[in-house]
Amino acid sequence: MQILRDLPALRSAVDALKSDGKPVVLVPTMGALHDGHLALVEEARRGGRHVVVSIFVNPRQFGPNEDLDAYPRREAKDAQLLTAAGADILWAPTVEVMYPAGYATNISVSGISEGLDGAARPGHFDGVATVVTKLFNQVRPDVAIFGEKDYQQLAVIRRFVSDLDLPVEIVGMPTQRAEDGLALSSRNAYLSEEERKAALALPRALAQAKRQMEKGEPVDGALSKAVATLAGAGFDPIDYVTLCDAVTLAPMHVLDRPAQLLGAAKLGTTRLIDNIAVDPA
Ligand code: PAF
Repeated sequence: MQILRDLPALRSAVDALKSDGKPVVLVPTMGALHDGHLALVEEARRGGRHVVVSIFVNPRQFGPNEDLDAYPRREAKDAQLLTAAGADILWAPTVEVMYPAGYATNISVSGISEGLDGAARPGHFDGVATVVTKLFNQVRPDVAIFGEKDYQQLAVIRRFVSDLDLPVEIVGMPTQRAEDGLALSSRNAYLSEEERKAALALPRALAQAKRQMEKGEPVDGALSKAVATLAGAGFDPIDYVTLCDAVTLAPMHVLDRPAQLLGAAKLGTTRLIDNIAVDPA
């Protein structure tokens, strides 16, 4: 696996990969890789496709009081995992390569990026849309794969790829979970042993609310019970537990079409998110 940090080297390496006519698949990440990321790489490799993985902890998607400095960085270990997983290129630009002096452009997606995490983390999705657009222009992949754990992020990316006519196919991969059900996330590394146990309340509360809604219980009542479960487990603040239209992410109070139940809350200093599909009868 080649590890590349500057654009000319990336461009010629991707050109070389493309010369055999097989698609190039990009897996964008911020590193601190776990089995969820490796499942994306495995999917990317399917059919002998070429795989580029990017690792870039993107400062523009962290708010002023968020965990940019603390965000886990372990590139050497990540590179070993990616080599074993069969990635062809690790694209690991520096902040100066991504945002050189004088950089002034922002990609902002209205509507779908405004509620949920967009409301809780102002500017976050501008940062994501900007860096992902740049990654697409740098790598020029045929396909890009993202985890559904970041459900709103995936919806925002699908929106701007369509709006900007970007020539890349976006693929979403189901959330990978630990055996006990906690969604895999690089931020799980922040949790103490006790918090790790309490964190299970998030997938459990969502699964319970899903069952209640699918049995026909009122949506708002099921949401309130999920919030109470999270509060009881020590989550504070609870940013949201919301039922949304699966495509537009518009809030729903009646389960009358395919929906997604999304939750975000903090346990100690660690902010966790999760989501689950809810199907109308
Ligand atoms: O999901 C992530 O890890 C990041 O938001 C992404 C898509 C790599 C953009 O920095």
